[in-house]
Amino acid sequence: MKLANRISLVQPSPTLAITSKAKSMQQQGIDIISFGAGEPDFNTPEMICDAAKAALDAGHTRYTPVPGIPPLREAIAKDYTRRGRSVSPDEVMVSVGGKHALYNATQVLFEKGDKILIPSPFWVSYPAQILLAGADYIDVPCTAEHDFKLTPERLEALLDDSITGLILCSPSNPTGSVYSKEELAELGAVIARHPQVVVFFDAMYDRLYYEGEIAPDLVASCPEIADQVLTFNGFSKTYAMTGWRLGYTIGPKKVIDAMSKLQSQSTSNPTSITQYAAVAALELDDMVIDEMKQVFKERRDLIVNALEKIPGVTCATPHGAFYAFPDFSHYIPSHFADDMELANFLLDEAKVALVPGSAFGAPGYMRLSYATSDALIEEGVARIHKALSSLEK
Ligand SMILES: Cc1ncc(COP(=O)(O)O)c(C=O)c1O
Repeated sequence: MKLANRISLVQPSPTLAITSKAKSMQQQGIDIISFGAGEPDFNTPEMICDAAKAALDAGHTRYTPVPGIPPLREAIAKDYTRRGRSVSPDEVMVSVGGKHALYNATQVLFEKGDKILIPSPFWVSYPAQILLAGADYIDVPCTAEHDFKLTPERLEALLDDSITGLILCSPSNPTGSVYSKEELAELGAVIARHPQVVVFFDAMYDRLYYEGEIAPDLVASCPEIADQVLTFNGFSKTYAMTGWRLGYTIGPKKVIDAMSKLQSQSTSNPTSITQYAAVAALELDDMVIDEMKQVFKERRDLIVNALEKIPGVTCATPHGAFYAFPDFSHYIPSHFADDMELANFLLDEAKVALVPGSAFGAPGYMRLSYATSDALIEEGVARIHKALSSLEK
C-alpha cells in the first residue's frame, strides 16, 4: 500500500528510541528511573471525577455541539477574565486535547508558502504540525543566556513580509522559562507592526507558574494584537487530566468558526463526559491546584540543586511547567558524539531515562520531567552524577 507523501514529511520522534528502549528494559525487570513523563503524577482531583460520574448518570452521553457545550465555552471565557482578558464564548472552541487544538489551527491557517518562526528549544509537535499543513518553519535558536527566550530585537530583525507565523510557548516545554508581562508587551509591539503574522500562544502550563498565580498572557499584555493571536490552553497539565483529552483555543470568531468546520469533519466534539468534568475543573478551589504547584516547586528546587552538583552541568531555574533543562554539553564531544549517545549511556549505565535536547532543537541539553517523587528525583540524579563522575576519572 502506498503511503501519502505527506506522512514522510514528519520524522519519527528521536525520543521514541530512548523511551521505547527504557520501557523494554523495565519489562525485563530492570530498575529504570524515568524522567521522561510529560504528565503530572497526581490523580485527577476527586471533584472532577465525581462530575464525570454525574454526567454519565445524567445521560450526557450523546454528541455535543462541535465547538463544545455552551456551559464549558462560557466557563473558559470567564476563566480568562482572571488573566485580564475579556473573551466571549464564541471565541472559544474545545478540542480533543491541546495538541488537537493546535493541529486544527495549523490546518486552518497555514499552507504552502507560509513561513513560521519557532523559537527553540521548542515543543516537538510544532514543527511536525507545520510541515503536515504544507508550510515551512524557521528554527530560531534561543540561548540560556536569555533564559531561552526570544527578544524583541531578535524578532524585529527576523520579521519581514515572508514570515506569516510565530509560535510562543510560556511557560515553556522543555525549558520552563516564562515570558514576563513586559517582555510580552515588547514582543507584541513588534508583532503589531507586522499584521500578516499570526501568533500561536501556547499557555498549556500557565497555572503551573512558580512566581505568581498565573503566567502572563500575551493578549492581556498587548491587547492591540488580539486579532493576530490564537491562545491555546487545556486541562491535561493543570488538572492532571492528560488521559481525558481536552484542550481549547481562544481566537477571533472567524478562525474559531473555520476550526469548528474542520473539527466537524474529523473528530466532531470532544468526549461529552470530559466536557462536563472540565466545567467542574474550572470551578475547583484554587487551593487544589496550589497544593500540586507547591509540590512541583519543591521538586524543582530539589532537582535543580542536585543537577547543578554534577561536574560540568549547569541548569537554569525553571519558572513554570515541570521540566528541568540542564546543559550537558561539557560531555560532548569529549566523551559522547552527541546527546543521543549520552542518553543511551545514562540509560545503559545509570538506568535513568531522560530526553535528549536535540529532540527539542537544543542539542547538548537534556530534559528531565520532575513529575515524579522526591525519592526518585534524588536517586535518579545521584545515579547520573555517579555515572558521569566515573568518566572524569
Ligand atoms: C507545550 C505543550 N503544548 C501542548 C501540549 C498538548 O497537551 P494535550 O494535548 O495533552 O492537551 C503539550 C503536551 O505535552 C505541551 O507540552
